[in-house]
Parts: sequence; C-alpha cells; structure tokens
Amino acid sequence: MRAAVVDRYGPPEVVTLREVPKPVPGENEVLVRARATTVNSGDARVRGINVPGGPLFAFLMRLSLGFDRPKQPVGGFEMAGVVEAVGPGVSAFKPGDRVVGSHGFRFGLHQEYATFSKDDVLAHIPDGLSDEDAVAVLFGGTTSVMFFRACALKAGESILINGASGSVGTMAVQIAKSMGAEVTAVCSAANVVLVRSLGADHVIAYDREDFTRNGKRYDVIMDNHGNAPFSRVKGALAPDGRHLMVIFDKLSTFVSAKWNKQVVEVNQDDDAWNSATYAHLLDLVARGVIRPVIDSSYDFEDIAEAHRRVDTGRKAGSVVVTFA
Ligand SMILES: NC(=O)c1ccc[n+]([C@@H]2O[C@H](COP(=O)([O-])OP(=O)(O)OC[C@H]3O[C@@H](n4cnc5c(N)ncnc54)[C@H](OP(=O)(O)O)[C@@H]3O)[C@@H](O)[C@H]2O)c1
Repeated sequence: MRAAVVDRYGPPEVVTLREVPKPVPGENEVLVRARATTVNSGDARVRGINVPGGPLFAFLMRLSLGFDRPKQPVGGFEMAGVVEAVGPGVSAFKPGDRVVGSHGFRFGLHQEYATFSKDDVLAHIPDGLSDEDAVAVLFGGTTSVMFFRACALKAGESILINGASGSVGTMAVQIAKSMGAEVTAVCSAANVVLVRSLGADHVIAYDREDFTRNGKRYDVIMDNHGNAPFSRVKGALAPDGRHLMVIFDKLSTFVSAKWNKQVVEVNQDDDAWNSATYAHLLDLVARGVIRPVIDSSYDFEDIAEAHRRVDTGRKAGSVVVTFA
C-alpha cells in the first residue's frame, strides 16, 4: 500500500508517496481501507516544524517529534473509510462498516490502510453522510467541543470567535450556536458571507474593524489565530470572562497563561478526543445541526498540493484528501 511519507522537515514538496507494508489487524484491532482524510493545520505544523512561541518551542518540539525528521514519518490525524477486516476479539465493528478513526497525536493516517485498536478513536458513519463530509468535521469539531467543555460554555452566554473561518472556527461557530450561545465571529472580509451562513449572530471583518476597540464585552473569547492573546483582549472580556487559548503567539503568552485563571487551555490528552465525541459530531451533521465546510479536495496523489493549500493559512474550513 502507499503512504505519504515525510523524511525531513520542510516545505510541502518533502511529502512523497511510498510503498510500505500493509498493516495486519491483531487482537482487538480493526483494519480500515481509507477513503478520505484531511491535511490539517497540525499536519502542516509538524511537516514544516512550524510552531508558535519562537526557537525554544521549536527546540522542544524537535525533542518530542524527532530532531531533524519526524519520528512518525506519516502524518494524518483522521480517516474515513471502510472496515476491511477485524482481529480476534472485535465485536463492535465488522467488514463493510463505514467508519471514522484517529490515532490522535500519533498521526499515521495519510496512507491507504490503517489499523485501530481499543486505545484509538473509531466510530460509525451514519447512513447518508459522505466520507468527505464525515472526515471534514472531526479536527475542528473535537477541538471546539474540548474547549467549550473546559470553559463550561452555557446557553445565553456571548462568545467571540477569532479566526472563525478555518477548520476550528467554522465548527466553533456552529457548535457554540447549537449550544445556545450568542456568537460573534471574526474573520477576513472575504469570509464574512460564509461565516454568517454558519449562523453567527454578528460578524466582524478584522481587516475593517478591531473588535477590542468597539466597547463590547464577551463572556468568552476564543483565539484560533494567535493574534488575540489575553493581554490584547482583556478589555473586551466580561469581568469573570474566559479566554480560550487555542493557539498562542509568543512564549511569554504561553507562560503567563499558566498563572491566569481566566485563560483556558487544553492538551492533547484531553478525554474529549474519543469515539463518543466523533459519534456526537457525526450525529450533529446527520441531523443538520452543523454542516461540514470543505475548502478544497485533493486526490491522494496530490497530497503535497493539499499541504501547500494549508500552508497559506487562509483555508476556509477543511482540506480533504480522497483515495481512489
Ligand atoms: N490547542 C489545540 O488543541 C489545537 C487544536 C487544533 C488546532 N489548533 C491550532 O489552532 C489554530 C487554528 O487551526 P485551524 O485548523 O482552524 O487553522 P486554519 O484552518 O488554517 O484557519 C486559520 C484561519 O485563521 C484566519 N486568519 C488569518 N489571519 C487572521 C487574522 N489576522 N485574524 C483572525 N483570523 C485570521 C484565516 O481566516 P481568514 O482567511 O478569514 O483570514 C483562517 O481561516 C492553528 O494554529 C492550530 O495549530 C490548536
């Protein structure tokens, strides 16, 4: 089978397709044939060792991911596909089932087949939902669920979502609305129509207006871009408001957040990244509560192009990759 392999950190061209052994499902494992995956901001960050927070963070990331090349050479955070075989002990899945799965931050899903164990995320795709639509909501949807749980977002609260047009933002807008929050979305003028169509109550184009200077205050501010740290937006937060630091700009922002009870951060071990959350998100799509936003779609052979699109930092929603 073929895998998209990253042998050294670098630009999208470092991603190349290579023949690797097809995995065999062991005890309690499910073998899935891929039909769709995504290239998300995490994949692009690892491939390019492009991390916020400056050289110290980049050094720490190299220590964790591999010094001059990723220890896990195959990216890919989520996959939609069909169960091809199951190992002994598996009863919840059978060959032919349509599923979505993730290895979390162990990546390894930019390939034609993958196995999933009990420790991985695996959930059925509801009938009528395409592989592309199913896979497109997972990264941003799970991130949003994780942060909204961590800050205990409540119906009737006001939330401002900075970076509302990306993978995380498009899901955050819709999920916050479905929870009964009053949503103000911040994006470029080019994406105002899209974000309004997702149900945002108010939309601010950051290239026309600075939301920190309009005198309004919000119960929650979610920063999906890194240019709205607590220090910049505290005047726009309600007195006991919460700041969701999905991404940060500088090391000092990261460090000061550790002592600030108003700043909410989550980590990759958060237990929301599980099969129940995936099933919940797909149920929301199947019931029409949220809709997938797909920026663009590429054949697996063109996965380097998909990385190039993600590297622009301007994708609207998710970049999907499909397998023939
Ligand atoms: N903490 C976590 O667990 C976690 C989980 C997932 C992702 N992340 C991080 O969260 C960030 C967002 O991820 P993503 O996948 O949604 O990225 P993405 O899809 O690339 O979205 C980036 C968005 O940022 C917007 N943007 C660009 N310039 C902006 C500006 N000056 N002000 C406000 N928005 C601006 C762009 O919108 P326009 O084109 O409209 O400008 C684009 O839609 C990434 O840095 C990622 O690494 C963290």
